[in-house]
Amino acid sequence: MKWTVRKFRAAKGGEPLGLVTAYDFLTARMAQRAGVPLVLVGDSLSTTALGHSTTIPATMDVMVHHAEAVRRGAPDALVVGDMPFLSYATVPEALRNAGRFLREAGCDAVKIEGGVTKAATIRALVDEGIPVQAHIGLQPQSVKSTGYAVRGRTPEDAAALEADLDAVTAAGAFSVVLECVVPDVAAALTARTDIPTIGVGSGSACDAQYLVLADLLGLGDGPAPKLAKAYAHLADDAVAAISRYREEVAARAFPDADHVY
Ligand code: KIV
Repeated sequence: MKWTVRKFRAAKGGEPLGLVTAYDFLTARMAQRAGVPLVLVGDSLSTTALGHSTTIPATMDVMVHHAEAVRRGAPDALVVGDMPFLSYATVPEALRNAGRFLREAGCDAVKIEGGVTKAATIRALVDEGIPVQAHIGLQPQSVKSTGYAVRGRTPEDAAALEADLDAVTAAGAFSVVLECVVPDVAAALTARTDIPTIGVGSGSACDAQYLVLADLLGLGDGPAPKLAKAYAHLADDAVAAISRYREEVAARAFPDADHVY
């Protein structure tokens, strides 16, 4: 059954939801088959699928291209397009680019990094009928100025997060990502707002969790971030399979009689 923004919002306070990112048809299909309610076409595709060191190189054209494939693979999920670096620097740009996610890729909503500073942008999108997922706490698109700092460790920073949360809630966001916020502050923020919070490395009190699918499936071969948990080690299985294939070709064992016409 198709997940809608309204249904997702109504999940606030219920059983926590496990959400994933996906960047292509095959992985979106896996998420669909596993019953994942919401799939984010995250700009983390820049670091995972495209091999960059940050999310900054992701462009709208790349994001829309991948979002179209995810939409085809996960027809029942709420598909959220992640607005890449500088695609929402002004309200007109935000409207144009968010519109591309909905019109060209068939996304249901968009995600934007930023709290108080992006409240007016969120309001403008929501007023035009574009559902917005906010993203506060650690914001990877600002890494060049902020670094990868854990958030909420001091009372002052916890207060700043409260201000961000209040601003995006008042602006009409339908949900909010809390990235790398210390767990007790994330729990307090979750209790403070009436929209679902989605934790990324922020503890189990959040209404939902995001896990980058490449981390969940063990698709990489570098060290995974502390917040990531591998539920499978598919890269190792894949390397073993490709190696076996090469050996069989070398031994003329493949193709065998079952694989020729
Ligand atoms: O791009 C991404 O994958 C994200 C999530 C981890 C929230 O922004």
